[in-house]
Amino acid sequence: MQDILIHTADGVMTLTINRLDKKNSFTQAMYGAVADALEHAKNDPAIRVTVIQGDVTVFSAGNDISDFLQRKPTPQEDAPVFKFLRGIASHPKPIIAAVCGPAVGIGTTLLFHCDLVYAGDNAAFSMPFVNLGLCPEAGSSLLVPQMMGYHRAAEALLLGEPFMAEAALEVGLVNRIVPPTEVNDMVQTLARKLAAKPIASLIETKRLMKKGQMAQVLAQIAEEGETFARLLQESAAKEAFTAFLEKRKPDFSKV
Ligand code: COA
Repeated sequence: MQDILIHTADGVMTLTINRLDKKNSFTQAMYGAVADALEHAKNDPAIRVTVIQGDVTVFSAGNDISDFLQRKPTPQEDAPVFKFLRGIASHPKPIIAAVCGPAVGIGTTLLFHCDLVYAGDNAAFSMPFVNLGLCPEAGSSLLVPQMMGYHRAAEALLLGEPFMAEAALEVGLVNRIVPPTEVNDMVQTLARKLAAKPIASLIETKRLMKKGQMAQVLAQIAEEGETFARLLQESAAKEAFTAFLEKRKPDFSKV
């Protein structure tokens, strides 16, 4: 799987999103690869920390749009994307993200399940689900209002407005902003620092911080997934995807 590169050293598993010709957008195979890697990391005592990074120019353009058009009409509990979402939301060990450039859709929402997020000053976050005729995923309809407050969440999720690294820092989505060329190195240093700590303490501390709403987050992911799958089949989404692939503005006047 060249689209997700996996490298493990010094207790740190680094997952690099590597589909640059399509701006690191995620295919089902890529969700599957990340889900399998996280499952492996959970059970492998040699892996203590996971890093997720993209390229210095783009983190991820979100779900592959052609893939959306081909998605089957039934909600698929076992689909790789749901394995990925449940896996990252409930992963017991620390996950650190290094984000540069655009982080669209799942490129932003996966960050709500990372423990630490470092961004290049070129990072641009967006969750344009409504603009695609869809609804939020990855528990973001619960986690975004919690983190940002309702009105800022509405700007991000109803208007689908992008926001830059400074705004992400202000709302607490990002821990620190650094020059893009320094993000990956800084994250590797921090990952090794974390990996040197007692693993049982890391796991218990993360579990205790998350346990209060883990069940609620997983239930929200499931409900969003059902709604998302239904909206994917409707004409607004089909018009949005076709317009993107035809490089034109969508026309929602008839939907
Ligand atoms: N799915 C499939 N292909 C995608 C893609 C996606 N989500 N995002 C980008 N691509 C493809 C483009 O179709 C283009 O392919 P082509 O060279 O064969 O024409 C290539 O990646 C480069 O994209 P382009 O839009 O020209 O790059 P850019 O630098 O001008 O813009 C983005 C980068 C990320 C801002 C822009 O590509 C974008 O908005 N992508 C869609 C994001 C989106 O709506 N994702 C779904 C979220 S749920």
